[in-house]
Amino acid sequence: MEMEQLVSLCRRRGFLFQSSEIYGGLQGFWDYGPLGVELKRNVREAWWRDMVSAHNELEPPPGAPAAYEMVGLDCAIVMHPQVWKCSGHYDLFCDYMQTCRQCKKLFRSDQLQAMLQESEWYQSLEDALAQTPPRDFRSSGCKDTLSKWTSKKGKKIAPGLFLVRHYPRKMHDFDAGVGFSNVNNLLDLVIYLAAEKSDQAGPWLPCPACGGDLTEPREFNLMMETHTGPIRDENSKTYLRPETAQGIFVNFKNVLDSTRVRIPFGIAQIGKSFRNEITPRNFTFRSREFEQMEIEFFCRPETSPEWYRYWRDRRYRWYVDLGLAGKRLRLRDHDSEELSHYSCGTADIEYAFPFLPAGEFGELEGVAHRGDFDLRSHAEGKLVRQGDELVVEADADGKPKYKGSGRDLGYFDDQTQQRFVPHVIEPSAGADRATLAFLCEAYQEDEAPDEHGKPVKRVFLKLHPRLAPVKAAVFPLVKKDGMPEIARDIYKNLKPHFNVFYDEKSAVGRRYRRQDEIGTPFCITVDSQTLDDGTVTIRDRDTLEQRRVHKNECLDELKSRLSG
Ligand code: GAP
Repeated sequence: MEMEQLVSLCRRRGFLFQSSEIYGGLQGFWDYGPLGVELKRNVREAWWRDMVSAHNELEPPPGAPAAYEMVGLDCAIVMHPQVWKCSGHYDLFCDYMQTCRQCKKLFRSDQLQAMLQESEWYQSLEDALAQTPPRDFRSSGCKDTLSKWTSKKGKKIAPGLFLVRHYPRKMHDFDAGVGFSNVNNLLDLVIYLAAEKSDQAGPWLPCPACGGDLTEPREFNLMMETHTGPIRDENSKTYLRPETAQGIFVNFKNVLDSTRVRIPFGIAQIGKSFRNEITPRNFTFRSREFEQMEIEFFCRPETSPEWYRYWRDRRYRWYVDLGLAGKRLRLRDHDSEELSHYSCGTADIEYAFPFLPAGEFGELEGVAHRGDFDLRSHAEGKLVRQGDELVVEADADGKPKYKGSGRDLGYFDDQTQQRFVPHVIEPSAGADRATLAFLCEAYQEDEAPDEHGKPVKRVFLKLHPRLAPVKAAVFPLVKKDGMPEIARDIYKNLKPHFNVFYDEKSAVGRRYRRQDEIGTPFCITVDSQTLDDGTVTIRDRDTLEQRRVHKNECLDELKSRLSG
């Protein structure tokens, strides 16, 4: 499936729109349309139900070391600024970015190479030199190709490239072979052609947009700032939360004191998070406003490795159960160099999104063993690693750089009479990324006969019935002979239980196709036989099989098929 096909379907059928589209859109922000809002709500509800409200706290679920409790929270988006100082976000939540000196565009350093190789001008140069092996890059044929490319395409699509701006100077070096010994492939050649000093070409990549040269990487904090209260100064500066997790840590004591939960237990939260991403891209995958579904699971330190393994496998299975089976989904353990300074183990659940190059995967969810880092940071102050220890970071005067709350965020076990700071396992998922992965996986094309029996292409979304925005559509075959009245009755009977849709417009074949395209698992049709024996057809989206059931049994039939 090409990503453009899905993007076009999402727009055409009202799943997703660019935010503020009528004003040209706002990069990194998306609006969910009438079907998208149902789909995303179903993703969130499946998560909340499976993780929290339907969790049986009396028995250990399969694979869990013990029974455990789960409760929820819904915290404010704007929190005390000290939260972000102690959590480390204020100092450390940064990406490196570079600016193009020619076109002034910004790029995230770690995405530069991929963006360059996907760029129009790089690909055009690649096409122009497709027949030239790297050993012949200095041949006269290659020089002719470069000359033609520079004066025509290059001038238009890579006006910032040094070769384009200073053709004679660069070609002089090229002829003399100055600095050419490092050129072994197309990327090296591009770097060479972009460098002002050919003998110092180094590893610097040119601008993906215009070929111009980029500034040194600079740190850029991703937190979005705002101000609270009428006076806008340093003291009123606050932040839109970049993750929902911290709201859970700072409420740990409140939850303990106001409920009867005992360790091990988890606190779950779903909510919006905001990150000022430098280069939001790939549809909703990297947005500036998005929704997270996070659990902080608190346990005794000595049991934490078992709980980490449980949550890693439990969360992976959740995606499999909802339809992401197959080789596009994987669970990847981080290498020790990839781990954060406080983490004893992290695994990512990843999906091979179609917009990524073949063989690459994008993160859907991270499952991290965070030790006691977060609770201690909010009690004692921002922590840093010193050897094997986490210690409070000191300022130049030896005082805590960012003071914690001073509250006791430990746990007293009245059975063992022990006091300790619990360890935390954090499964942290993105609702928008999960929704996008479910959509990508669901997109299917096949052939099915039209109303005249002729095979035609069919596009359908093979969404899990729990996620499908509309669970069933009800149609009268024709708009006469009392069929609409019967169909309306069926619709009225089903509507309090499921999101169902009534449609009597256009040929029935077209109505089926419209429902297939939005992933409706079942279509119920009232036809002439209904008038004789009271039965209707129920058509299955995936198999196209039609079975007859009595019109009064539609509710039970749907209940059993949707739960099966
Ligand atoms: N509390 C840990 C945490 O926030 P993260 O890996 O930064 O970890 C967790 O984010 C999840 O949130 C990611 O796996 C992803 O699904 C989602 N996410 C993060 N940044 C995102 C963005 N810019 N756009 C959409 N989803 C994002």
